Amino acid sequence: MTSDTIAEPTFDRHLSDDWREQALLADVTAGLGSLPRRLTPRWLYDDRGSELYSEITRLPEYYLTEAERAVLHRAADEIVELSGADTLIELGSGTSDKTTTLLDAFAAVDRLERFVPLDVSEQTLRDAAAELAERYPGLRVHGVIGDFVEHLAVVPHEGVPLLAFLGSTIGNFYPAERAAFFRAVAGWLPDDGHLLLGVDLVKPIDRIMAAYNDEAGVTAAFTLNVLEVINRELDADFDLSAFEHVGMWDPNHSRVDLRLRSLRDQHVTIERTGMQLDIAEDEEIRAEISTKFTFRQLDVEFAAAGLEAVRAWNSDGGEGALVMGRRV
Ligand code: SAH
Ligand code: AVI
Repeated sequence: MTSDTIAEPTFDRHLSDDWREQALLADVTAGLGSLPRRLTPRWLYDDRGSELYSEITRLPEYYLTEAERAVLHRAADEIVELSGADTLIELGSGTSDKTTTLLDAFAAVDRLERFVPLDVSEQTLRDAAAELAERYPGLRVHGVIGDFVEHLAVVPHEGVPLLAFLGSTIGNFYPAERAAFFRAVAGWLPDDGHLLLGVDLVKPIDRIMAAYNDEAGVTAAFTLNVLEVINRELDADFDLSAFEHVGMWDPNHSRVDLRLRSLRDQHVTIERTGMQLDIAEDEEIRAEISTKFTFRQLDVEFAAAGLEAVRAWNSDGGEGALVMGRRV
């Protein structure tokens, strides 16, 4: 951040319209065509879904965002110092709302040269990148419209990177996906690079479940919206009023399981995939999981991937944590 010039953000767009269409077709064909039926969470974040997620982050029950924001405030200077980074990459950046705390800390020591947010939600990413370019003159903002699993390998290798993955989005991965992701991160990071991971910690179940079964029904609207995405993009005829949002705790996997339960026997046509689905009353479509972690679990998973934690910061109430890692 060396000059006061406001540079327009630049973008790499890995998600062509064709990619999106083909990937959605493939996910829906495989996921809804098998039992139990399952959807991939990335489709939750169309424009409406991204708005609903932002609303979730402001819910009184959703402790995670504020807890992470507070840890970031407390730890930002140390993160800047320890990482030695001049490049901040943020996976699943969304609005990059909390990230400004980190960017402010980098700005205070005039250290950061580039910020690279990556997200599947194109409009949200473009809006966020434009706002940040204006807020931090002299910072090169380079957005990557892509998938954080498929496109991590093509994120430009420049400078000394800090790879941030905040908001406990890692919790939305199934265990095998998580292991593959950590291995990919270990493979991507150079020797002087660091990972900054935001995680939601195990805590009393009532507190966790209140965040996913909120009084206002915003989380329900968020999960149900994925059916609207399939209706719109694949010419399907899901009747949203014939499903209810169900959030339940899975103690075996230490995770919240968010599902859409069918309220009656129903027939659904998905024109673009040629699918005719008979969905029984009470049958559930798995929409998303949200895993809650312990440090011990993370240590084991890091080690298996060739990563090690170098520092962790807990939120004051122990809700969540930031963990800084590097390759072993
Ligand atoms: N990091 C922000 C946003 C978390 S919400 C926070 O801490 O609040 C999850 C974000 O990941 C959304 O912006 C969503 O669009 C994005 N996302 C979900 N699946 C993705 C995928 N497969 N590839 C890239 N981005 C994805
Ligand atoms: C983005 N991710 C970490 C959120 C979570 O808490 O798992 C998504 C979410 N789903 C329902 N509420 C919030």
